[in-house]
Formats: sequence, structure tokens, C-alpha cells
Amino acid sequence: MQEMIARDDQVDEYDGNIPLTLFSMVEIPLVVHLLDINPTFTMLEAGCGTGRMTTRFAALVRHLISIDFSSKSLQQNEIKLQAAGIQNVDLIQADICHIPLKSELFDRAVSCQVLEHVPTHVLRERAVSEVARTVRPGNTVVVSGYQHSKWTNDKSGEHEGGIPYYRFTESEFRELLETSLSVMSISGILVYLYVAQCIRSTK
Ligand SMILES: C[S@@+](CC[C@H](N)C(=O)[O-])C[C@H]1O[C@@H](n2cnc3c(N)ncnc32)[C@H](O)[C@@H]1O
Repeated sequence: MQEMIARDDQVDEYDGNIPLTLFSMVEIPLVVHLLDINPTFTMLEAGCGTGRMTTRFAALVRHLISIDFSSKSLQQNEIKLQAAGIQNVDLIQADICHIPLKSELFDRAVSCQVLEHVPTHVLRERAVSEVARTVRPGNTVVVSGYQHSKWTNDKSGEHEGGIPYYRFTESEFRELLETSLSVMSISGILVYLYVAQCIRSTK
């Protein structure tokens, strides 16, 4: 609840975050490359926020469902989609730990910079399991999360407004993802983020 309120309050700050905008120039092409998207695909974006990536993804797939628990972020996202004339996206207010969608719906799923804000290890495992559940077996899931390194001071803490964060070591991130997915690769970007390419194992 605390994070939902803070995210609603911080919509404009998020979009005005210049370091994040610059970081996106490296992050988004890498995420898109790892997703290996085909224009016939359907995709889930879990924790879409204000749409830093949503319009980019939408242009590459047939249908995108983007979820977030912050209604103000979704409203902001909707404004951007309308301005870009994009019509193949459904935005849904939902918790990544309880995704209100059928299993094995999607060809791809992506979740960027969300897991580190899910407040406990048990809930993070739950979130990974929920994202994995929505993807058809054998298909790709790309997930990113804060990186802990010698350059980062705190392992965990709170951003402004009480938004919790947790910085993963590479082995923690791998272990978390492997509770529901097979990890193909983990790339570090600029000591800030890990981006993992995973596969939902075939049954
Ligand atoms: C750092 S932002 C990232 C947004 C977007 N993926 C991006 O990369 O710009 C984290 C987002 O995750 C959402 N979020 C955090 N915990 C969530 C949860 N349990 N369920 C749904 N969304 C959540 C927040 O509302 C916020 O929009």
C-alpha cells in the first residue's frame, strides 16, 4: 500500500528522472534484444509504470498487456499510448504477485525494475512464479532488478515515500529467478541493474 501511494504521488518525478532517461538508452535496446520479439507475439509487461518502455514494446508485438498496481502510473501510461496512436495495449491495475490472467497466455513476458521493490523474498518468489505462469512453456521471459556491487552502499532500504528496494547479488538474482524459470544469461548494466534472459521450462 505504501508503495502504491508513493508511486501514484511520484508519477511526474519518475518521468522527469534524467539519469533514468539516459540509462534507458542502454537498457531498453538490451531488453528488446533479449526478448527476441516477433510482430505476431502477445506479451505481458509486469510493472509497466508510467510507460517508459510500453510504447516501445507495443510497436514490436501484436498485443501487449501491461499491468501495474499504481493507478496514476497507468493513467500516465494511457496518455502516452493515446498520444502515440497505439491501440494494441490493454492496461490493467493488478498486483504482480496475484496476476489476474489465465496461465500460458503469452509468447513473451517482461518485467523491468520491479522485483527489487517487492518487499519480501517470499513475495518476490511469488511474483516470479506469477509472471512465469502466464507464459507458454519454452518461451522467453526477461527480468531486470537492482544490482548490488562494491559501488552500491546499501543492500536494501527505502526510496522517497517509503518505496522499498533490495539490491541483488548476481547469485541471489539467479536463485530467485530459478525458483520458476531457467536462466539463460544475466547481464550487468553500469553497476546499476541486472537483466536476465530466462525461459519458462517445458512441462
Ligand atoms: C521502478 S518502476 C519501473 C516501471 C517500468 N517497468 C520501467 O522500467 O520504467 C516500478 C514499478 O513497479 C510497480 N510495482 C511495484 N510493486 C508492484 C506490485 N506488487 N504489483 C504491481 N506493480 C508493482 C510500481 O508501481 C512501479 O510502477
